[in-house]
Amino acid sequence: MQPEHPFRIGVLGSGKGSNFVAIAEAIAAGTVRATVAAVFSDVADAGILRQARDRGLPAEHLPAGKFRTKLDEEAEALYVRRLREARVDVVALAGFMRVLKGDFLRAFPLRIVNIHPSLLPAFPGLEAWKQALQYGVKVTGCTVHFVDEGVDSGPIIGQEAVPVLPGDTAASLHERIQQAERRLYPAVVGALAEGRVRVSGRQVTGL
Ligand code: GAR
Repeated sequence: MQPEHPFRIGVLGSGKGSNFVAIAEAIAAGTVRATVAAVFSDVADAGILRQARDRGLPAEHLPAGKFRTKLDEEAEALYVRRLREARVDVVALAGFMRVLKGDFLRAFPLRIVNIHPSLLPAFPGLEAWKQALQYGVKVTGCTVHFVDEGVDSGPIIGQEAVPVLPGDTAASLHERIQQAERRLYPAVVGALAEGRVRVSGRQVTGL
């Protein structure tokens, strides 16, 4: 059983759920004082749902509707309703591969955070580690940021740099970035839970 802390997070993911696991383990270890209120996925057989259920946490597949890269209107309303029912303080996107639009963002102003596998503003969008490798940068990393109307463009909460090493493949670089993600995301959730994060325009402090 997880300890019940008043700060409640809702997690959305589409993939294997390694970031979610890192957050859940930090909560279970007591280093992050938060409660996972709900985990939702647009992918019925996503690893993140299995990881949540294995830990006895509430997890549900919520279909995304008729579009490929965003939620349709009905789905958007369903996600917002479920997150409200779960009384979440913050929505943490952990590999959620759909862009969130206006009504969703307005439902949780400055309360949606995302992890992205590059040092933003470099390499927004899909497969950022491949973009970094192809570009030839020597340093890349990961970023946790608030979600705004753009793609991977909101105010940056925290970043961790990762070297690109000679001989790296897309897979080896992605794995190194994901190791950094598993440190950064729980640290950011912990800072949010403790109320340490302050936002003023694009400037974010408190990590
Ligand atoms: C993570 O590497 C995350 O940065 C990336 O998806 C992966 C999810 O892994 N997110 C994006 O690319 C968002 N644009 P996980 O399911 O193991 O946490």
